[in-house]
Amino acid sequence: MVDVAMLPCSFVKSEVAVVIDVLRATSTIVTALANGAKRVIPVRTVKEALEKRRENVLICGEREARKIEGFDLGNSPLEYKKEIVFGKVIVLTTTNGTQVIEKIKSKEIIAASFLNALAVVKYLRDKRDIVFVCAGTNGEFSSEDFLLAGAIVKRLGREDLKDGAHVAKKYFESVKDLREEIKQHSSHARKLISLGFEKDVDYCLRENVSDVVPILVDDAFILKEPL
Ligand code: MLT
Repeated sequence: MVDVAMLPCSFVKSEVAVVIDVLRATSTIVTALANGAKRVIPVRTVKEALEKRRENVLICGEREARKIEGFDLGNSPLEYKKEIVFGKVIVLTTTNGTQVIEKIKSKEIIAASFLNALAVVKYLRDKRDIVFVCAGTNGEFSSEDFLLAGAIVKRLGREDLKDGAHVAKKYFESVKDLREEIKQHSSHARKLISLGFEKDVDYCLRENVSDVVPILVDDAFILKEPL
């Protein structure tokens, strides 16, 4: 079966869980790995992140969408350029995206964004039991996460959809202009734009520009090339 959890819940136990935080955590994870970061370690707190400071480790993340004081990078994927992240370990703490992971008990956890949507579709082709977990924003539903889930569900072409997956697919199919839908109606997109991060929003809405699939192994996302 394929399902979409509109918000993180603590009983996801599928064969594969696909974590989605389009704005911006999973877009940042995809970008960091695509640009040569060795791995991305998601952590919950600022303290945990700072405890991991070592040589060749970048301490990164946001609170209220802004870079945390004393950190190397924020959560803007545009900061994760090759010349900055290549060969580095990224420790990332964000308000929602990186908090979701510890709630999931699935066999595999991967990260999806619009950037790598097609690669995720290919990766999921031979998986039977899939749950998309939308990170949302501060416990509230985020339309951009649900739309991406719907886009991937549609491309999977499966018939065994649970209610969440069925509705996500319908929502995606009803949207004519994805970019406009998200920029006008997603409250987190509007917040980011009001804070001066419109370039981030535009970047995160680019589709299928990366073929990496971040997969969680032990405590870190590493790069897995799709089959
Ligand atoms: C989060 O994890 O809450 C987000 O990625 C926030 C952000 O836009 O940086």
